[in-house]
Amino acid sequence: MKVTVIGAGNVGATVAECVARKDMTDEVVLIDIVEGLPQGKALDMAEAAPIHLFDTKVTGTNDYADTAGSDICVITAGLARKPGMSRDDLLGKNAAIVASVTKQFVAHSPNAIIIVVSNPLDVMTYVAYEASGFPSNRVFGMAGVLDTARYRAFISMELGVSVKDIQALLMGGHGDTMVPLPNFTTVGGIALPELMDDETINAIVERTKFGGGEIVKLMGTSAWYAPGAAAAEMVEAIVKDSNRVLPCAVWMKGEYGLSDLFIGAPARLGRNGLEEIIEVSLTQSEQALLADSAQHVRDNLAALERIQNS
Ligand code: LAC
Repeated sequence: MKVTVIGAGNVGATVAECVARKDMTDEVVLIDIVEGLPQGKALDMAEAAPIHLFDTKVTGTNDYADTAGSDICVITAGLARKPGMSRDDLLGKNAAIVASVTKQFVAHSPNAIIIVVSNPLDVMTYVAYEASGFPSNRVFGMAGVLDTARYRAFISMELGVSVKDIQALLMGGHGDTMVPLPNFTTVGGIALPELMDDETINAIVERTKFGGGEIVKLMGTSAWYAPGAAAAEMVEAIVKDSNRVLPCAVWMKGEYGLSDLFIGAPARLGRNGLEEIIEVSLTQSEQALLADSAQHVRDNLAALERIQNS
């Protein structure tokens, strides 16, 4: 198996490192337009292989020919937000970058599965889907795994229980309208509302929604450890054909009453990429929050169309 990571910034490099450390693929190729950057980071990772004990070959390049025959591609290319910016402020610039790198990549790897990480995530996944011409089981976005990881981390901190026992579901776009679902959150099999009062749950839900921004505020740029680990977990589910159930930004064809957009929903990932979107029954208020989030993604898609036509 060969995995390409596009963009050798903090997120891309972390994805490459996490994938390599799982020691599950033959090769990881890190590609970027900046000369020397992917080569240097890849060599640094390869030099850590005797310590981490992985056999995955890690290389860096500026040439898409070196990505040929990839099975999976993770797109992290684009600008990261700075303090005071929302993910949506990156729309026009990142759309051009994502469309361009997708086209260059698919020319050499027509059968790959693409995982998009660039922001604003749900719209960038659509851009890659359009630019690739791939079927929708082979293009989806990483966000739900990151957002649920944050949500689970906050629950663990609050309850003082192991993160290993916390399972959670979160739907909607990767933005401030995301929808964490406490009714679908368990701690060792116990429903979250049994263990926490509404006020504490709401505080954690709010912190999760703005989790990306919390980190931007602290360090002046966007996060990479959790985003990188999240994308690598999705790669692993595909490489191992493990049929993990993970929230991903997927192309909706009527599920949850939504069509013709990418948005977060529980998905089963396996060797074919997206194997299935899983539908759960939402309460009226959960469904309304999801519809709100979908409207936000649609507004962003419309804004992108205006930028592209201007
Ligand atoms: C975040 C970025 C990756 O949420 O969107 O940290």
